[in-house]
Amino acid sequence: MNIQKDSFKILVLPGDGIGPEVVQQVRRIIEWLEKKHRLSFHLTYDLVGAASLAEYGVPIRDEVIKKAWESDAVLFGSVGDPRWAHVGFDKRPEVAILKLRHELGLFANLRPAKIFDALTDASTLKPDVVRGLDIMIVRESVGGVYFGEPRGIEVLPDGSKRGVNTEIYTTAEIERVARVAFTLARKRFNRVCSVEKSNVMESGLLWKEVLTDLHRREFSDVVLSHMLADNCAMQLVRDPRQFDVLVTGNLFGDLLSDLASMLTGSLGLLPSATLGAMRPDGKCAALYEPIHGSAPDIAGRDIANPIGQILSFAMLLRYSLNRQEEALWIENAISHVLAKGLRTADIMSEGMICVGTEAMGDAILGQLDQLVKV
Ligand code: IPM
Ligand code: MG
Repeated sequence: MNIQKDSFKILVLPGDGIGPEVVQQVRRIIEWLEKKHRLSFHLTYDLVGAASLAEYGVPIRDEVIKKAWESDAVLFGSVGDPRWAHVGFDKRPEVAILKLRHELGLFANLRPAKIFDALTDASTLKPDVVRGLDIMIVRESVGGVYFGEPRGIEVLPDGSKRGVNTEIYTTAEIERVARVAFTLARKRFNRVCSVEKSNVMESGLLWKEVLTDLHRREFSDVVLSHMLADNCAMQLVRDPRQFDVLVTGNLFGDLLSDLASMLTGSLGLLPSATLGAMRPDGKCAALYEPIHGSAPDIAGRDIANPIGQILSFAMLLRYSLNRQEEALWIENAISHVLAKGLRTADIMSEGMICVGTEAMGDAILGQLDQLVKV
């Protein structure tokens, strides 16, 4: 086997809740890759979310953003803690991920919803509806109502309050994320469905116009369709396999990706990559995180599913480090372990073997050893 050694700088931000324990399973896989002399990593750890609030009084320090800039990629766990739910928006743990996305210009959030054969029965939908499902949601992630101004809660003269958020998209913001979607579609099944609410929102109308225009100018070989977001939610449940790449704004992408994840069996299974613009050094800033949250209710009990986090690392290998082979090893190892009947609690079904976080990590490592004889 061709042994090639590169050293990659990865900033690891485990965060809150189940974040640290699922990230720990990735750490073990990284050590395994190093032991196999495939790759070498330079890992730096730091605090984000409630963990950072407790230590430094802010959800993320500027120093951490700077480190993220200087890394080849960021591996992110999850943030969120009910103990910080009462504080102002600038002090919420969630600010950590929003700030990272915004300040690193990570505008394209790729959320694949791909079903493992072994888990076809774990979906709450009928097996025939989800068998072979393979959708890629491309969610715009630095604009829209998440960041639009004006925003805030104001007190009206009569003492009541008014909460305001603003949905904004410019032509350039829509075009750059649409380009990512079209380019991905070309490597997949060549179909893009653009999702908005052009029947109610001007920003949605512009979204649709820009997609149509860009498609005509640069991507007419790709099949483009348009769908209203409410209909899309319904279609995802009715017949999810009609979709290949879905491209949509920040808020609809947040909602639809949670929905799509359940088609595959569990929120705990799905990874994501958030990519930014190309930097002058030819690399693009990138952050990888599972789409599940910090799940504080099950944290520290060794029952969380580490697969979403591990698959996020596989995406890191694929997109940031261009290591397709190692990414495939990891994905195949997970697929084999599931085929053998091992399940964490969230995807447990009758006749299967229920294992904890650590034991799932053990099984995936064991499988890697079997699959890869170096
Ligand atoms: C996600 C999460 C975040 C979001 C939260 C934690 C801010 O739900 O990544 O989907 O809304 O984007
Ligand atoms: Mg979400």
